[in-house]
Amino acid sequence: MAVIEALGQWPGALLLQRSGTVYLFVNAAHILGIGLLLGAILPLDLRLVGVIRGAPLAVIGPFLVRAAGFGLALALVTGFWLFTVKPTEYAANPAFLYKLGLLALALGNIALQHHGAGFREALADDRPSARIRAGAAASLALWLAALVAGRWIGFV
Ligand code: HEM
Repeated sequence: MAVIEALGQWPGALLLQRSGTVYLFVNAAHILGIGLLLGAILPLDLRLVGVIRGAPLAVIGPFLVRAAGFGLALALVTGFWLFTVKPTEYAANPAFLYKLGLLALALGNIALQHHGAGFREALADDRPSARIRAGAAASLALWLAALVAGRWIGFV
């Protein structure tokens, strides 16, 4: 707990605690990161599972993966920064803990999805295997659940 409490004393946390304006921009950047991440990963997953058809994976795949990667990095950095504003309070918030658990599963699923040649082959031949489709379905469920858990934080 002492380590978590100490997180609330770093200059970035003190800045957000003192300036509502800076807090506003960091919170907005967190939402931008989430929007980019889900705005890229959900269409790609829907295409991989076969709900969306047509757009060639070789064209949309690399573009959406890069956009999702940028969104994820922005959401992680701004999310951690927001966390340090009230670290002990968030650490005791069940919605926040659920969200962290879902994020860990979603990131593990990304690692599994990109492990081996399956994902690259799916983009190359436009025929995702059953493993890649299952990974995309899990990704859809996990990122949507993380979104809901993130919004739930403010209601607990
Ligand atoms: C990468 C995927 C992430 C998603 C999809 C996500 C989702 C969300 C959502 C939907 C909100 C509510 C935004 C609002 O209405 O203001 C939120 C707020 C927040 N998130 Fe994240 N988040 C992510 C990563 C993180 C990480 C890694 C952390 C911390 C380690 C974090 C910490 C927070 C905090 C502290 C808030 C403010 C909660 C509040 O006081 O209302 N987020 N997040």
